[in-house]
Amino acid sequence: MGSSSSTSLVSLLLPCLFSLLLLRLSTHLNPDPTAAAPRFKRTPPLPLRFRHDGAFKILQVADMHFGNGAATRCRDVAPEVGGARCSDLNTTRFLRRVIKAERPDLIAFTGDNIFGGSASDAAESLLRAISPAIEYKVPWAAILGNHDQESTMTREELMVFMSLMDYSVSQVNPPGSLVHGFGNYHVSIRGPFGSEFVNTSLLNLYFLDSGDREVVNGVKTYGWIKESQLAWLRATSQQNLHAPAFAFFHIPIPEVRGLWYTGFKGQYQEGVACSTVNSGVLDTLTSMGDVKAVFLGHDHLNDFCGDLNGIWFCYGGGFGYHAYGRPHWPRRARVIHTELKKGQKSWVEVESIHTWKLLDDEKLTKIDEQVLWRRSSIRL
Ligand SMILES: *[C@@H]1O[C@H](CO)[C@@H](O)[C@H](O)[C@H]1NC(C)=O
Ligand SMILES: *[C@@H]1O[C@H](CO)[C@@H](O)[C@H](O)[C@H]1NC(C)=O
Repeated sequence: MGSSSSTSLVSLLLPCLFSLLLLRLSTHLNPDPTAAAPRFKRTPPLPLRFRHDGAFKILQVADMHFGNGAATRCRDVAPEVGGARCSDLNTTRFLRRVIKAERPDLIAFTGDNIFGGSASDAAESLLRAISPAIEYKVPWAAILGNHDQESTMTREELMVFMSLMDYSVSQVNPPGSLVHGFGNYHVSIRGPFGSEFVNTSLLNLYFLDSGDREVVNGVKTYGWIKESQLAWLRATSQQNLHAPAFAFFHIPIPEVRGLWYTGFKGQYQEGVACSTVNSGVLDTLTSMGDVKAVFLGHDHLNDFCGDLNGIWFCYGGGFGYHAYGRPHWPRRARVIHTELKKGQKSWVEVESIHTWKLLDDEKLTKIDEQVLWRRSSIRL
């Protein structure tokens, strides 16, 4: 009895097993042609341009501090929403929510995108951290903070990898010039299709590598922007003086400290953790004249904007849940909204630059809206 029932069981199962095998074989013999084709980077439509309504919106995401995903716990969140309930997936959810709410034209990831010490594989962690941008096909640009390289990839490898990721407009360095660090590049935003400025840059974005850590006279300090980077910046700005510009880098410059005394909008809740070296970034930006605002990361509890020599310095405010923060002080993101002026025939130059922040609370509360720049009606 035993033998006959087991024979019938095998005869019943055999066709199933065989078809399973065939299925596997057929996928081997007749592979999906798209799967076999080399995998090219998906690029957004380039060059980037203002929308038909004359606006261009940038979402700044500062300090995601991504680790391994679901296994990486949140820091500094209220106990009732923390513990096993909270992980890097909360950071991902926040990114999806802000993308859906604001529909940005570009996302600027301003460093400490991954927290090297908690990421067992840098590439895997970065792919997961950035994935919502790719999912929504939003062009994105990234620079490095001081923690990104603390996992399995060097700063150079990280920038190369990010430059090759889908929808990325990140670049490692300007071609043909020797510039310190990795992630110094220029992105121009052209006029909308159909406008007379379709081939002209109306807004310039300068991304700079502010380094990680350095030792100066035997004392540890943070990185800073070097003279070769400033020389490249001055030269690039010279070719683009007609249009306003923004700069993005991770570590603040020493002068940001002084805003405590001269005024700021937003919150200044921790010391500015900058380098002890002042390499003259503010002097360079002031002499260039095109940069209207600088967007920083690094100090998660600071989310203010303050004016230094007519240039706004704005923090993004901490975004990621594995980054240090403060319980009951929601994680946040900054939006930078630039609008063109309507000329007689079509859109012309930039007219105004606004910024605000979104909190990761139930309503994605919008706070601290302010004007950063407006073209004066008096032409000199
Ligand atoms: C993280 O997400 C979980 C699941 O959606 C939620 O229950 C928890 O409140 C979130 N934690 C925080 C700090 O937002
Ligand atoms: C923009 O450049 C394209 C290609 O070079 C050219 O055909 C077109 O006439 C230019 N348009 C304007 C408005 O300058």
